[in-house]
Amino acid sequence: MGFTPDFLDEIRNRLPVSDVVGRKVRLTRKGREHTGLCPFHNEKTPSFTVNDDKGFYHCFGCGAHGDVINFTLETEGLSFPETVERLAGQAGLQMPENSQYDAKKAKVKKTLYDLMEAVTHWFETQLMAEIGRDARDYIQKRGLTKQTVKTFRLGFSPNNKSALKDAMLARSEFTEEMLIESGMLIKPDDGGDSYDRFRGRIMFPITDRQGRVVAFGGRAMSANAKAKYLNSPETPLFHKGRLLYNLSGARKAAFEKGRLLVAEGYMDVIALAQAGFPEGVAPLGTAVTEDQIREMWRLAPEPMMCFDGDKAGQRAALRVVDRALPLLKPGHSLKFVYMPDGEDPDSFVAGQGARAFDQLLTDAVPLAKVLWNELISDVDFSTPEQRAGLEQKIARVLSEIQDEKIQGYYESDFGKRLKNLFGGDFVPDINLHETEQTPTQKKNQQKSWSDNRYEKGRYPRKNADKGIGNLNKTKIGMSMQFSLLDRERLIILTVLEHPWLLERHEELFATFEFESEELDKVRNEIIRITSRDSNLEKENLRHHLIENGMGQAIEIIFRQGVLTAQNFIGRQSSREDTEETWLHSINLFQLDKLEQDIAAYGSKELNEEDYARLQALKEEHSASLKRLTEVSE
Ligand code: UTP
Ligand code: MN
Repeated sequence: MGFTPDFLDEIRNRLPVSDVVGRKVRLTRKGREHTGLCPFHNEKTPSFTVNDDKGFYHCFGCGAHGDVINFTLETEGLSFPETVERLAGQAGLQMPENSQYDAKKAKVKKTLYDLMEAVTHWFETQLMAEIGRDARDYIQKRGLTKQTVKTFRLGFSPNNKSALKDAMLARSEFTEEMLIESGMLIKPDDGGDSYDRFRGRIMFPITDRQGRVVAFGGRAMSANAKAKYLNSPETPLFHKGRLLYNLSGARKAAFEKGRLLVAEGYMDVIALAQAGFPEGVAPLGTAVTEDQIREMWRLAPEPMMCFDGDKAGQRAALRVVDRALPLLKPGHSLKFVYMPDGEDPDSFVAGQGARAFDQLLTDAVPLAKVLWNELISDVDFSTPEQRAGLEQKIARVLSEIQDEKIQGYYESDFGKRLKNLFGGDFVPDINLHETEQTPTQKKNQQKSWSDNRYEKGRYPRKNADKGIGNLNKTKIGMSMQFSLLDRERLIILTVLEHPWLLERHEELFATFEFESEELDKVRNEIIRITSRDSNLEKENLRHHLIENGMGQAIEIIFRQGVLTAQNFIGRQSSREDTEETWLHSINLFQLDKLEQDIAAYGSKELNEEDYARLQALKEEHSASLKRLTEVSE
């Protein structure tokens, strides 16, 4: 039961969003947009906007976003076919012949969600069966109770290439294609048989906002396994940069307690919950992303970062500070909890107990203070030049804060602190509006905004409507004779040669979708290593990768990639050139892939899931296009 993309587009074209939304929300016209109080969260001042030109509504308060179809789905409590039927009626469109709404049939069709649920259940069963004995022992050694295993739905994947595959295919409702699409099976590039991705691992189901399982993390039980954790790849259901582990489980407690704990690992979240802190979440194997910070703020005003008490954990915390500054808004901030050296929340509650952890939480440090401490750590300010240098550095960092009110408060607060620091009658001047920036600083700043892939509306509008056809890709990108695989290798090779790229573009790199499983693994490992140690020299990075069993993969990347790469990763090219070319190659690659993906929907009949996915693809496509046109001017 579905509808073609054309039919759904026709509905969107005929019905202005403001008409549909206007039936539920009182809208006020402001220029080309309408604003009103958001129907998706409680608010007193309007942050909900409707734009008929773009065909979307967007709430700057809670992030709700969508078109007429999403709006009707979410406010009317109708199913997807019912929604389409109603809107088609309003738009004066005939329902397509073959789409006669058949509720029974719609129910019978198995979705990827059903598959993930069945897989979760099967892993749970394996854990309790004879084959799961060692896994049960391991879980017990880690101190988890039966109840915790049940709550978090932990399971076990047998060490066998086709145990899951066979079990799922034995049930006629699931296909091999679905298993591959869900990330549960790996289909080798050379066309060989597909096989189970997770083997011999403790399985941690990852759920979406509504508590539906969309992915897994799998932990190896032996200490010398190649990868301690293996995670599901990006799939139609799973976007790791946008979700948090245990989001749905933590929501209720977070609302009740008015606080949210953010740990680094799955086991930390689980151990905290068992110790009486169910309000814990964690990112999914990468550094915290902007989307995740926004997500946290929906649950609590000042999420508390409980990162590991080692150097790497502290560096990870500082990266969260950097990432949060541009996003700060009135009433929303972060706090940081300091774990003793060498401890993570899991080991801490095991060793010291819940009370002691509660005490750590009371001592949590506000973001402003963490930032301040970082800015003045290891700086000498005994000479006027050094003082001026520090002042400038502070102004530069505070200029990252986009919210003017907050920026103002930070300026005056840090001004006072500086005064204390320098002592006496010295009057520091960190008013950024007057701070001179060098042309390079300005340029860098613009660039780091423009690569911000999820932040909509920051791109220059002038090219917004330029079609793909108008764009000469060869002019702005690299030679078109590269295959997708070549490009993927090049993207990684450049990072291997220039790890500093990740300082600004980690999120982009972390969420980039590699076609090749092998390269995907290498990328994940790079992210894992660098998100814990951001200042890695390239030699160290390579060394780590080799230690983690990726020596061969890297060698191939170098061998195959180096010829095509010569032009832009040579030592003689400047950092700026390298960065620009690298971003271009990523953008080009994504554009190609998005076009392929969108084309694949063709005139296929869409259900609700497909529709959401296609919409997301189109949005990403137009953002991607804008980035390219912007850079090429
Ligand atoms: P940790 O090593 O801190 O995880 O990595 P943990 O949960 O405390 O694991 P235990 O206690 O050793 O069992 C933090 C997170 O980084 C990701 C996982 O999401 C993990 O929870 N990670 C870690 C990976 O994705 N792959 C790895 O190889 C290691
Ligand atoms: Mn741990």
